[in-house]
Amino acid sequence: MPLRVLVVDDETDLRELLSLEIESEFAAEVRQASSGNEAAKLIADSSILIDAVICDYSMPDGNGSVVQKALLNSRPGVPFVLCSANSIENCPGVDAKTLFSQITKPDILAPLREIFERLKAASHLKSTEEIRWVSIPIGMMNQFNIVPVDTFVKLGETQNQLVMKKGEVMSVSLISRCTQKGASRVLVKAQDAVFISEALLRDWSLFWRAKQAPSQKQTLVWGQNAVSALKEMVDLIGVTPEVQSLVKKSTEFMAQNMALSPDTNSWFSQLIFNPDSYFTGHSIVVGQIAGVFANILGWGLPSTLMKFAAAGMLHDMTINSSTLNRLQILDGAGAGELPDNLTQIEKAYLRMHPLQAAEIVKQFSELPAEVDVIVREHHECPDGSGFPSSLHGDQIHPLSMVFIIAHRVVSDRFARGEKSTPLAVLEGFPESYLVGRFGDIVKDLKNHLCKS
Ligand SMILES: [Fe+2]
Ligand SMILES: [Fe+2]
Repeated sequence: MPLRVLVVDDETDLRELLSLEIESEFAAEVRQASSGNEAAKLIADSSILIDAVICDYSMPDGNGSVVQKALLNSRPGVPFVLCSANSIENCPGVDAKTLFSQITKPDILAPLREIFERLKAASHLKSTEEIRWVSIPIGMMNQFNIVPVDTFVKLGETQNQLVMKKGEVMSVSLISRCTQKGASRVLVKAQDAVFISEALLRDWSLFWRAKQAPSQKQTLVWGQNAVSALKEMVDLIGVTPEVQSLVKKSTEFMAQNMALSPDTNSWFSQLIFNPDSYFTGHSIVVGQIAGVFANILGWGLPSTLMKFAAAGMLHDMTINSSTLNRLQILDGAGAGELPDNLTQIEKAYLRMHPLQAAEIVKQFSELPAEVDVIVREHHECPDGSGFPSSLHGDQIHPLSMVFIIAHRVVSDRFARGEKSTPLAVLEGFPESYLVGRFGDIVKDLKNHLCKS
């Protein structure tokens, strides 16, 4: 359904131009008013549908503050965009706190696109006809004692059924019944997904408050749930403050755990080949092994471990699930050559995923610097055969080198069979990994693992 926008301006030419632009560029329905008082009358008429108001400030018959007040009185949730040459301090009566956005005249057209994207997102979340769903692993629900949000299962293409209500005691038998019927995921409303992340963090922090280190298996399961929820949330609601908080706290937990679980052999034993959880398990274990390698190399400052934990969770964030099964072959190959069973479009898409993930990482303002660099370079190879930038050896950032080696160790382990050890996998690395700084790192790791 198109957005219905009320445009208010006393200058006819400007009002017409703005309306034309909104109608043609954003396929919105526009209604016009030439004064604040005329707009206030339209707003008070409940038979007129209005999703947003774009309004001038200085008008002879009722200024912008009259329109904003009318909106706050009768339609408090409807966004108000101020469109004026004046700064907000020079618009007496306007409430800056409830302002959705401001466009400064005469540069009106450029900021409109961003405003319309935000308006569309806001109207999506409010819409009752168009509920957006986040699917989460059913196993995640086992982590809670109390159901954190209303939880649904998919009945058909368009129908979902409520199975657990927010605030109820968690029913383990219900979850196992669903699992027995083959349901591996449940659905929650997109706007509720943040409560899941809050509940996850609350439950996890109990471990640390009790000064009880979680086992590797508990870390892996919790981390997989966090990564899975994160991927869905970033796709659907973007990098919101709640998503940022989940990433930051999960990263801290994962980094704390690296120092407590230094045994790479036992991390290998946690890696069970399962196509359904390959992406999430791989993400956590690569991050943890990179952190353990950093400790071995004497690079294990808490801030560095945070970088590896975050890079682990986020580096394959933008790969869609239908490509994931085939990506196992790519990760197994380890090098930049993409497998032949992918189409040209899939190959192009995969070559882009480190760049796309790095762009998302940049939006997480509270993560340490260089996480985006590690994510961008995680498929580069020392011989220049990697992607997306075909970097050679020492052109690659030293932190990325450790991450690339950990990534290859984890991926090659599947190719070599479940009984292989990290040392055996490192010994099978190609020649190109044995020269320059890459070679020094691989040699140090092999020496340490030989002795342990
Ligand atoms: Fe990747
Ligand atoms: Fe990966």
